[in-house]
Amino acid sequence: MSNYSIKHLEEYYQVYRKSIRDPENFWSEIAEEHFMWRKKWDNVLSWDFSKPEIKWFEGAKLNITENCIDRHLATKGEKTAILFEPNSPDEAAQHITYRRLYERVNQLANVLKDHGIEKGDRVCIYLPMIPELAISLLACARIGAVHSVVFAGFSSNALSTRINDSDCKMVITSDGSYRGAKTIDLKGIVDVALDECPSIKDVLVVNRINSDITMKEGRDKWLQPLLDAASTECAAEIMDAEDPLFILYTSGSTGMPKGMVHTTAGYMVYTAYTFKNVFQYKENDVYWCTADIGWITGHSYIVYGPLANGATTVMFEGVPSYPDFGRFWEVIAKHKINQFYTAPTAIRALAKQNIDFAETHDLSSLKVLGSVGEPINEEAWHWYNDVIGKKKSPIVDTWWQTETGGIMITPLPYVTPTKPTYATLPFPGIQPALMDENGEEIKGNQVDGRLCIKFPWPSMARTIWGNHQRYKETYFTAFKDKYFTGDGALRDEVGYYRITGRVDDVIIVSGHNLGTAPIEDAINEHPAVSESAVVGFPHDIKGNALYGYVILKETGESRIHDNVRKEINQIITEHIGPIAKLDKIQFTIGLPKTRSGKIMRRILRKIASRDMNNLGDTSTLLNPEVVQEIKDNVL
Ligand code: PRX
Repeated sequence: MSNYSIKHLEEYYQVYRKSIRDPENFWSEIAEEHFMWRKKWDNVLSWDFSKPEIKWFEGAKLNITENCIDRHLATKGEKTAILFEPNSPDEAAQHITYRRLYERVNQLANVLKDHGIEKGDRVCIYLPMIPELAISLLACARIGAVHSVVFAGFSSNALSTRINDSDCKMVITSDGSYRGAKTIDLKGIVDVALDECPSIKDVLVVNRINSDITMKEGRDKWLQPLLDAASTECAAEIMDAEDPLFILYTSGSTGMPKGMVHTTAGYMVYTAYTFKNVFQYKENDVYWCTADIGWITGHSYIVYGPLANGATTVMFEGVPSYPDFGRFWEVIAKHKINQFYTAPTAIRALAKQNIDFAETHDLSSLKVLGSVGEPINEEAWHWYNDVIGKKKSPIVDTWWQTETGGIMITPLPYVTPTKPTYATLPFPGIQPALMDENGEEIKGNQVDGRLCIKFPWPSMARTIWGNHQRYKETYFTAFKDKYFTGDGALRDEVGYYRITGRVDDVIIVSGHNLGTAPIEDAINEHPAVSESAVVGFPHDIKGNALYGYVILKETGESRIHDNVRKEINQIITEHIGPIAKLDKIQFTIGLPKTRSGKIMRRILRKIASRDMNNLGDTSTLLNPEVVQEIKDNVL
């Protein structure tokens, strides 16, 4: 018997030890008892991090939607699967039962098939947080198509890059979206993107805001009439365990975004098992994760993990500040939310508001509070714990990544004693290692180093779409035979982990991963710019904000500088999206470089953070004189 739900600390240690001693047995017991297979696997795991090649449950046949939907129908057909809370509190919430979800997923699956989408084809999904978004993921999975969701805050340029990278055949989008008091013209963004995307044959459009949009003849169709005409039955495509389920792009330190490929069986088993334990979900609980499904958190912990457990999962279309800063707390009271999972940036923004916004709502239903996406600082942790959790709902500070597919280091609520700012202990099956700069593992406690994982886990990404070499170089070359996370971490005296942040050129702004290279490329498009460097600096709500150092081709007056600043941010918005805008732009005559021409970002980071005193030895730089100039003009 597997320990599917861990109840106390001693049991956690037992389960953990078992998962390390005999991983294959451990995972096969869980997979066997808690999922529906069309055929069982021939081999639980084969792996070689030097290639890297990782296969879980090889030979097994399944469809993830049969696990997320069909198998619940007999006992939970009338239970709410997705509880949709719209942007405006004046619009009624929608309860979509497992039965209705089944029908709606099948209808869309049939529409996809009618449009020639087959197993293995890529479908791009560019939708706001409306039920059709979750239904689109599941409809793709139903027929074996690979979904590639692009967060609907990305620009047309970012969208077309992602569509082209994975040769998508179709886009599912909406006329527009609501965001607080604003509406956004999503279809307009798609239209511009598609000028550059020859592989797209069809665009299916959800009517969300009733706006007047242009429909391109022969390419664009309103979705609803097609759904109305489609059958509510669609046989699930039987997939191999290692068939790709989806692609999701994440920023790297350099170059193109990386299309992380997740496969079917391992991803399903791991997201379901982590969901059950990290949130201690009980039948009749209502669970709410505030992430957008455009990010991995939404894929794993709004859609697949909760539905695989037959849970009720809330999808929220709105923002925390509309119609006022009490919106999250109002929704918790309204739907009697039991598990609430959000990001530190939201917590910090809400903690700054009048406390009445939180205190006037009944939050007594809460049992578990989650945090994800970036380090949670001590102050925010305490506010969350005291004001929202009333010191009775444990905070699970969950560390993981797009690449890991599921939660990796986390407390289990009511099991692991929490400690502010610590993600605490590895989840069963996860073997972390801290490494020093010479590539040696640092053993023992009270140490810090670069965080690696020594052994495969079922939901790890298997490759980067179309670029396995880059997958190998990014994650498996820095440390031999280990997966390198790109994060630094420390391990305290009892073995708890605290994630200290990225050790590469990825910057996490409001929980969003941003690579410096694409932002710099965008800045350099400005005709007046000759070179630029972007770094992060601490920001009390966003965690980090972006600071750009820009060399202009010709120096000008300050009036012109202000215009250039605006134009740079405009270009960034067009190329990537508003999330990548710079908070500060300093014009400079030079950037500190090593003799081999590499920009010394460490120095730029320190100056931007106003940590001027220990810049290290700058005398070996190619151009040490620029350091003083940059310091003198820091913003
Ligand atoms: O630096 C870590 C940070 O977010 C990175 C992964 O970002 P992404 O792929 O967008 O996935 C975010 C949601 C899973 C990590 O490399 N990060 C994530 N969770 C935490 C965190 N940093 C500190 N504490 C966390 N709980």
